[in-house]
Amino acid sequence: MIRDKVSTLLLFGATGDLAHRMLLPSLYGLHADGLLPDDFQIICTARSELDDEQYRASAVEALKEHVPANFYDPKSALVFSRRLTYVVLDATKPEGFKRLAKTVDPDAGLAIFLSTAPTLFKAVIDGLEAASLTGPRVRLALEKPLGTDLASSCEINDAVAIAFPESRTFRIDHYLGKETVQNLLALRFANSMFEPLWNSAHIDHVQITVAESIGLEDRGAYYDGAGALRDMVQNHMLQLLALVAMEPPGDFNATAVRDEKVKVLRALRPITPADVEATTVTGQYVKGAIEGQPVPAYADELGKESGTETFVAIKAFIDNWRWKGVPFYLRTGKRMPQRDTEIFIQFKDVPFSIFASRGATTRPNKLLISLQPSETIELRLMSKTPGLDRDGVRLREVSLDLGLANAFSEGRRRIAYERLLLPFSDRDGAVTHVIGSLKTISEDGGFEIKNLMRGSDTLPVPKLRTIIDRDLFHRAPDRIPSGDLIEFS
Ligand code: BG6
Repeated sequence: MIRDKVSTLLLFGATGDLAHRMLLPSLYGLHADGLLPDDFQIICTARSELDDEQYRASAVEALKEHVPANFYDPKSALVFSRRLTYVVLDATKPEGFKRLAKTVDPDAGLAIFLSTAPTLFKAVIDGLEAASLTGPRVRLALEKPLGTDLASSCEINDAVAIAFPESRTFRIDHYLGKETVQNLLALRFANSMFEPLWNSAHIDHVQITVAESIGLEDRGAYYDGAGALRDMVQNHMLQLLALVAMEPPGDFNATAVRDEKVKVLRALRPITPADVEATTVTGQYVKGAIEGQPVPAYADELGKESGTETFVAIKAFIDNWRWKGVPFYLRTGKRMPQRDTEIFIQFKDVPFSIFASRGATTRPNKLLISLQPSETIELRLMSKTPGLDRDGVRLREVSLDLGLANAFSEGRRRIAYERLLLPFSDRDGAVTHVIGSLKTISEDGGFEIKNLMRGSDTLPVPKLRTIIDRDLFHRAPDRIPSGDLIEFS
């Protein structure tokens, strides 16, 4: 943990999609709430030939578009934009770094955020080193993807490690900044009622779903080289899985939480090439309609045919005492019928039903944690249908429903990056749990991204029906997923 005042944020990739959609709006949110020191400066760099005023104008446009209308204030946006200065920089050329060094004082506390293509990470770090911008008061944040496979990930991590010790390196996963994801820890470890049931003796299976209705948008250049497995599974979904499955950490700090997550990742059963067919599904969306509006196929959005997966489903197992034999179904996809991120936990049915002889059937209890767009925690329980029961007892599933937006109506919902940028540029790193641990996992052969990818090239027909639906047909028949626009190859 580091506690050191930071006076400057240096943002690489400042004209990119992430900067416009998330980083600038998040910084604006912190500014508008008075959470940035008055003298806090933001130095933005990218290749485009812009001057300060042109960049500020483009930043204000981005804020207008991406900050929720009820929070956007033109005057405040203008004041915020005065914090921004712009330096033209081509990461592959040393001149830009020399110019940069003249505008930044690394001894006054500097936070550097790399929101560029990972192919540029090494060049940027070399450039920073050559310009003496890697001193003891400098910290670095990296956005995924950290490489495309183990070798390229190691290369990036090695390049980073030469210039920045682990304590000053932040690997960002914006899911960890989501209020609802943080709340998973509270649900599990601030309540005593779940923990005794949170294991294979009482849980039948877990489903983690991140369904998006958006398609490729303008991100073809990045996304087609990544695919859903690298874009969503290895980071966001494994973080969710680890939060659901980990042991209680000894303390609520970044190291303790991360250590427990790493143990879960190490215990993930490897998916070998021989397992790929029986435990994974990949697909790519074709043209169709969402909410009555026609939407193009992935290949049409991309402008060419492609083998990249936009949908992944995995049946995973965690081989440890707590989870032995409990399937974790992970699914994520773009252009799904609706946006939905949720964790569904199905408990085991009662061992013996005293109501069976009276004609009633029981259904297993379920806990549904919706992370977005709705923020709810729902516990589904069996209840007797009111009546005299002269024709037998009837039982029905009812929900104990907690709508978090209603329970906590005060305060605005923050963009996930606000939570991550604040500790990164201000104090400690308590919530910014790193995903670097995956590197070690892959070295141990724990999670075989490469093999999975290779295997998925040759998957036969609609396997969703075989591995996921077949299982769920028995386990949770009301939760068979629909993937209307997905074509399986
Ligand atoms: C990003 C992925 O990390 O997460 C995107 O690169 C995806 O492809 C996004 O759309 C989803 O984030 P959220 O916060 O909208 O669930």
